[in-house]
Amino acid sequence: MVNPGGVPSRPDMSYDRSVMRGRLDGKVTLVTGASRGIGRATALAFARQGAAVVVNYSKAHEQAQRLVDDIQKAGAQAVAIRADVASRTEVRAMVEGTLARWGRIDVLVNNAGILHRGNILTLAEENLDEMIAVNLKGMIHCAQAVAPHMMKRRYGKIVNIASIAALGTTMADTTPYAAVKASIVALTKRFALELGPHGINVNAICPGFIRTDMTSVGTPQELDARVLSMAGRAMLGRVGAPEDVAAAALFLASDEASFITAQVLTVDGGRMDFLSHSG
Ligand code: NAI
Repeated sequence: MVNPGGVPSRPDMSYDRSVMRGRLDGKVTLVTGASRGIGRATALAFARQGAAVVVNYSKAHEQAQRLVDDIQKAGAQAVAIRADVASRTEVRAMVEGTLARWGRIDVLVNNAGILHRGNILTLAEENLDEMIAVNLKGMIHCAQAVAPHMMKRRYGKIVNIASIAALGTTMADTTPYAAVKASIVALTKRFALELGPHGINVNAICPGFIRTDMTSVGTPQELDARVLSMAGRAMLGRVGAPEDVAAAALFLASDEASFITAQVLTVDGGRMDFLSHSG
């Protein structure tokens, strides 16, 4: 492969693409917060496409182990590894554990996240601190832990799950969450700049309203009303499923996206409620 001036060349995609095969065959992937929701759907999508999956969880051991069992029963490889992404030490141990088991990490999906509601008057400092620790520092810890290894191999895909809150939707009471998620968009572009010369792609996904445990708070009536309201704000007239986001993560994690980096892929059904014209 031509590689002028040491510029990283494309990965070898010379295999016969007419032959059906998994889009992540032989790849080792790490999905944070994978015991449920978007993380779980992503882990399943990756496994179905031939990847070995590290199912990261912080507390839900049983759920994570059940997912691993399901993946293994379907004939793919998976392992559950506990780590609170807010802890640099635990993240490092998780990455070391993955490398000890499978020898490499090709894909990192920074999915783990939490949502504390609040506005300028009500946002509590401890909630803000926790969101910074998990949603922002968690992604930094994971990217920092895998980057040296990916750089050495001159191969890697990092997908960060941000939110349309980062882009300025009008969802009430999500001000601190929006601020933290916006920092992930900025971080994605910076990491892409720094890691691009080493053959590593870094992209973000901004999901809209996705039905998961995170968004299923309140009474069934309240949830129904919220879903109806959110569906009405989307051009496609529906809210999203975890699989909608998993499909986008799969694309960005695959070599089909090998010339895509520093991008923000919005997966929101065409939301129309944005705050300003400047984004
Ligand atoms: P969820 O609450 O169902 O799942 C989040 C997962 O992250 C859980 O498995 C949880 O245990 C894990 N987690 C939380 N703190 C952790 C920590 N410290 N260490 C390791 N794992 C931890 O939420 P959902 O909806 O699946 O969200 C996934 C990601 O997508 C989050 O980053 C969220 O902010 C983002 N997102 C979700 C949207 C939605 O409408 N559901 C919209 C936009 C973004």
